[in-house]
Amino acid sequence: MSADLDKIAIDILQANDLGGYTIPTKGLYPYQWNWDSAFVAQGFATFDVNRGWQEIETLLQGQWDDGMVPHILFRKDDPTYFPGPSVWGTQNRALPSSGHSQPPVAASTVRLLFEKDQSATYVERLRVVFPKLLAWHRWYHTARDFDGRGVIAVMHPWESGRDNLPDWDGPAARVDTSGVGDYVRKDTSFVNADMRPRKTDYDRYLAILQFGRECNWDAEKIARDAPFYVADPGVTFIQLRADRDLLALAHALGETAALPEIEEWIARAEQGIELLWNPDLGAFTTLDLRSGVHGEGVSSASFLAPYAGICKARYLEPTLAHFDRMMSKVTYGVPSYDPDHPAFESMRYWRGPVWGILNYMIATGFAEIGETERAERIRKDTVALIEKSGFAEYFDPISGEGAGGNSFSWTSAIWLNWASPSRNQQAA
Ligand code: GLC
Repeated sequence: MSADLDKIAIDILQANDLGGYTIPTKGLYPYQWNWDSAFVAQGFATFDVNRGWQEIETLLQGQWDDGMVPHILFRKDDPTYFPGPSVWGTQNRALPSSGHSQPPVAASTVRLLFEKDQSATYVERLRVVFPKLLAWHRWYHTARDFDGRGVIAVMHPWESGRDNLPDWDGPAARVDTSGVGDYVRKDTSFVNADMRPRKTDYDRYLAILQFGRECNWDAEKIARDAPFYVADPGVTFIQLRADRDLLALAHALGETAALPEIEEWIARAEQGIELLWNPDLGAFTTLDLRSGVHGEGVSSASFLAPYAGICKARYLEPTLAHFDRMMSKVTYGVPSYDPDHPAFESMRYWRGPVWGILNYMIATGFAEIGETERAERIRKDTVALIEKSGFAEYFDPISGEGAGGNSFSWTSAIWLNWASPSRNQQAA
């Protein structure tokens, strides 16, 4: 069974490989997505390290002059996707793209790839990639932490990668959508509308996008005036781990000049995350930097602190209590939002369903701090979901049904790199 699934996962990655870059799935997502590629590279590297590197290299080809690495690279025009390059106002760039970023997983991937093979050719490739990653991290720490608080904000729900999280609803409700105009969505022609964001959400997404385009994606204008600017535990924790991994890569290359800057980012974040601690809830949540209001729900990103190397008991004990409570409410973990919260919906995008990539990151962090039983439960649930419903985009935590797109690249990648029983036998 597991060997068959290993083969299917490889076939999916290869079928979604459009020549050096990989799309998340055919139809729904016909371009290269940022954090998808970072996970995909980890999947490829289980059978082809060179191809893993290539995925990161093609992703970084889209980097802007200010260091930002966009969330979508539009390598060729595909009229079946909305919003495409002309909506973003980037159609005249050498490589058209979206105008904001996505969670910076790439440096963590590069560390994994480099640990697999440190021969001269990969040292050379690391030398080329390292300054690009450094510039991207610097961009996040300035553009999206403009006041140096030690937490990373997102200017659009899409920048978080967790597009439709209920905690965005409050901050997004202030967005003026009167100028959005008419548009035709394409996502609901591929996937049942009940599994996708609602029209009110989409109007807000477009209004924020229009603000970014009109200010030419200027970091200061965004930090000061964007209608949406919310500190996110997901991006903040992923960034913190990626900074630690970048630091390890700097040491490996002897890039001593970069060390103090990266160390400062890490130190700032280790302090800054306190801002994301919602004391009423006893969990890390979003923080709306416009209103100063915390998100009111525990989400899967609340469990990423150990992945970021944060394991203070003051944070960890209440976090694990939430984890156990939430896991007791579902058949398969980890739900993307608290099943006890009224906004929970088991099948709607980021409002309840399980994502394999979050499971991988949460379990990795848990295993690293010695929470091996909880880490194993997450891995086994992931295996059970994939055995039951295949390599879906995401899964219903109660029924285990697959949802969103099928033959999904990142679900296949985390299977190969982490969940697959055959991989765990080899590791044992
Ligand atoms: C959705 C997800 C986002 C992902 C993209 C491609 O937009 O919310 O995180 O990168 O699909 O898989």
